[in-house]
Amino acid sequence: MNIIKVKDYEALSEVAANIIIEAVKSKPEISLGLATGGSPVQLYANLVKDHKENKTSYAGVSTYNLDEYIGLDPSHEQSYNTFMKNNLFNHVDINLANVHLPNGNTSDHEAEAKRFEELVANTTIDLQLLGIGTNGHIGFNEPGSSFDGKTAVVDLVQETIESNARYFEGNEDLVPTQAISMGVGTIMRAKAILLIASGKNKAEAIKWLVEGEVSEDLPASALRNHPNVTIVLDEDAASLLQ
Ligand code: GLP
Repeated sequence: MNIIKVKDYEALSEVAANIIIEAVKSKPEISLGLATGGSPVQLYANLVKDHKENKTSYAGVSTYNLDEYIGLDPSHEQSYNTFMKNNLFNHVDINLANVHLPNGNTSDHEAEAKRFEELVANTTIDLQLLGIGTNGHIGFNEPGSSFDGKTAVVDLVQETIESNARYFEGNEDLVPTQAISMGVGTIMRAKAILLIASGKNKAEAIKWLVEGEVSEDLPASALRNHPNVTIVLDEDAASLLQ
């Protein structure tokens, strides 16, 4: 694993955005795996800024998002579909036909998970962006998820519901309890992985990911078995590392 430590969230967002920008420039038809959450917000803003200032084009880029809440229509303001439009897709020249997220509002969630897994299986994700949950989840693969897991309907644990309540008026009762998420096995098929983590609340998970035991109890530790992983950390997220 290539570990890059920087000062703060701002520096992290710049370094990680530059990795993606360089990847897009070197392969204009790149297939990107994308993530949501607070961690990549400034990174996406940097991609938008670069697109406007330097004309980096996303016209040939395809994207596959990690996950989506079950029960929220794609148009819901807290859906990951809306997040991606607000933070990236509406501000660059990407072709929305090449943008792929699971749909959390179909009549058959299992079938939708299967459809999405097949879609991802039929492409090679060149670069997968990941955040990490405080409990070490990637996508919505909570502790105990199989390292071989495929895209599936998953249950969110209480810790995740609590930490995501900030996006739902601080009200845990409004947070969906399930999601459709790429599995750890799905994620591991990406050619390269870029994980970002910022803040003290991520330090324990990062310590385990980098120095602890590879175990399904910390889903992100699967990445230790991946040949091409870059982790960008700010000082707080790296603060427990030896
Ligand atoms: C969310 C998402 C993950 C994300 C993680 C951390 O629940 N499903 O993809 O990486 O939790 O989120 P944040 O970046 O807001 O800390």
